[in-house]
Amino acid sequence: MEFTREEIKKFLQGSDDEYLFNHAKDIREKYFSNEVYLRGIIEFTNHCEVNCNYCGLRKSNDKASRYSLTDEQIFNCVDTILENGLGTIVFQSGENINDDIDRLVKIISNVKKEHDLAITLSLGEHTTETYKKLKDAGADRYLLRAETFNAKVYEKARPQRKLSDRLQCLENLKEIGFEVGSGFMVGLPGETLDMLADNIITLTEMDLDMIGIGPFISHPDTPFKNFPSGDYLLSLRTIALVKILNPTANMPATSAMESAKRGGRLESLKYGMNVLMPAVTPSDLKSNYNIYPGKNTYIKGDNEIVTIKNILTESGYTYTGARGDSIKFKNRNKY
Ligand code: 5AD
Ligand code: SF4
Repeated sequence: MEFTREEIKKFLQGSDDEYLFNHAKDIREKYFSNEVYLRGIIEFTNHCEVNCNYCGLRKSNDKASRYSLTDEQIFNCVDTILENGLGTIVFQSGENINDDIDRLVKIISNVKKEHDLAITLSLGEHTTETYKKLKDAGADRYLLRAETFNAKVYEKARPQRKLSDRLQCLENLKEIGFEVGSGFMVGLPGETLDMLADNIITLTEMDLDMIGIGPFISHPDTPFKNFPSGDYLLSLRTIALVKILNPTANMPATSAMESAKRGGRLESLKYGMNVLMPAVTPSDLKSNYNIYPGKNTYIKGDNEIVTIKNILTESGYTYTGARGDSIKFKNRNKY
């Protein structure tokens, strides 16, 4: 590893922001130039059977207005993604053990039969059997954030859940042959700077294809409502460090950075992030995918893909709808 734990901690404390951000920018440009991969995301249901203490979609949040897209609505979203020239579809939902998987399997097979595009899933923890079914149907990639690699912070944030189970899921996904993504939130209640440094190290050791990082954003309808949101600058330093240590990983810029500071999502593209995932979820439902305040509410206009393309061009980025497969994965599987 390029940095020791002590060095990582010092950078997190702001010991040399100039060096850190310049170095991260160089690495980002070396591997990804000024390009941004666009992936269309379909948040097909906001039902969730889990009770994460930080998330607005948690099962016990009665204020959440729940929806589930029909097959027809999902295929319309797929069409929108294709019409706008994007080569990856991301299916995301809460974690629902008992339904939706078989339906999704059918949808994935259908889409893959007719189109040459990559499919990414973000559906939480499932059995190996379920993961295999989804892979066999044609899914290519899977995102499952660890949320934190510290067992104590984890158990406080996700009651009745165990970090070891989540890590096992990540191993299973890799074993099955998915491109795998993980990540964590910065500033979950109880997290110290030492723990954050450890999160960065553990994440790097996992040798991931995709990495998602964003600040914890305090949500008023959750048990964590009285805890402060994660710090913006600390999150940006974390992103820069993770980029330096994981140069080839694809890193989606999330709107949590935007919630922490206006313009934050764009700024995170400078220092490491190279993927944006415009939501094509129907506009009347999109704001119900309310994981944290600000999610899905910044991008105006009916077609988020068009809006994001315009913002990127204005900001000097080149966007691409190419599949943008993981460089690491290709090398690992030698084709
Ligand atoms: N603040 C920031 N990120 C959150 N997520 C869930 N709730 C919050 C929150 N309050 C993130 C988690 C999850 C992803 C879908 O959204 O990391 O994995
Ligand atoms: Fe459900 Fe995921 Fe939110 Fe947890 S973070 S409550 S699993 S949607």
